[in-house]
Amino acid sequence: MTRRADRQQLIRIMPAKRDHTPTDTFDVLVAGGGVAGLVAAWRAAQAGRAVCLVDRGELGAGASHVAAGMLAPVTEADPREPALLELGLEAAWRWPGFAEELESAAGMGVALRRTGSLVVARDRDEAEALDRVREVAAGLGVTMERLLPSAARRLEPALAPTVRLALHAPDDHSVDPRLITAALAEAARRAGAVLRCGEEVGEALIDGAVVSNGREPTADGDRPRITGLRLTSGERLTATDTVVALGAWAGDLPGLPSAARVPMRPVKGQLLRLRDPEGPGLIERTVRFEGGYLVPRADGRYVLGATQEERGFDTTVTAGGLYELLRDASELVPGVLELELEEAIAGLRPATPDNAPVLGRPRGVDGLIWAGGHHRNGVLLAPVTGDAVLRALDGEPAAPAFAPARFAHADAEALA
Ligand code: GLY
Repeated sequence: MTRRADRQQLIRIMPAKRDHTPTDTFDVLVAGGGVAGLVAAWRAAQAGRAVCLVDRGELGAGASHVAAGMLAPVTEADPREPALLELGLEAAWRWPGFAEELESAAGMGVALRRTGSLVVARDRDEAEALDRVREVAAGLGVTMERLLPSAARRLEPALAPTVRLALHAPDDHSVDPRLITAALAEAARRAGAVLRCGEEVGEALIDGAVVSNGREPTADGDRPRITGLRLTSGERLTATDTVVALGAWAGDLPGLPSAARVPMRPVKGQLLRLRDPEGPGLIERTVRFEGGYLVPRADGRYVLGATQEERGFDTTVTAGGLYELLRDASELVPGVLELELEEAIAGLRPATPDNAPVLGRPRGVDGLIWAGGHHRNGVLLAPVTGDAVLRALDGEPAAPAFAPARFAHADAEALA
């Protein structure tokens, strides 16, 4: 391993961009500068590795920029995905310590709000669904208090009198993801990572060669090894390990052998950022409802999200999408219609076929680590994503429920 102190010396004399493209070598290359890539870079650099992260735009400008930042393992969870629910609970339990460590490492706040969430039902069907959520939560040792409308309105007086039932999830909190990405970038930089923005990844390098068509390497009996990345500028970066954290685009990275690939689809979410010129106070807790959520920030801002649409890489904001969010939210919190509109935006959640993330090394290919497919839980899962990348760097196998090998092509068996 290259010693970090040596790398830092190198970095000081290395210009950020060059016309000529000699190969730069690192211990760890990270493709993608969202929450997943940044936490991977921070943890790897913190562990003494020489790290370089590459992002085609600004850091945290993709799904992380759009995310609401709910740390809601139970209220976001699908009871049919128990492994994901347990991972989310572990992540939620880790968040307070993680936030404290990150704030101290970055020298800036991340606005962790430990105010809990209220899940509200408008009718009998929704109320029955809430009772099922409560049962699942109880089975996992998570207490959610069942509140009749009067009790719910004592907690959140802005709720409409028509609310039928509510569940109080005192441990479902929130953070501001834009502060998280800024803090992770600063912490990674301070730990010695090189962060390169505006540099697009072109292809993965395999055994030193670029495999433009993704063909399988045929070196006699050798396991193929990802040796780094070629940028679209032509520059080559090589590393012992390459972490793929390219969000919804991760499935399309050219050059990976099929044994190492993970299918990834974009799931569009539109949301609104709102502001109360009078300051905070409309609601104290996140209010969730069928199809959406209203997340308060400490300064009187609110995030109202989000649609869930399968429309490929489309990020247009539509009147219909925003109308539905405002219609549903204002039915439950009428005061939402008095708020000022600051931003309407759409992002792409990266989702695997089973909606669970891929965290760890694929089978049959060396030098590659996946950190992606976080779907609705990218911010929540940040602490455990960092842990999983560190474990993979140390050679530990991925947890089976999140192992990339679950999507491997049949011919992956031949390479394993
Ligand atoms: N985690 C909230 C969302 O994906 O909309």
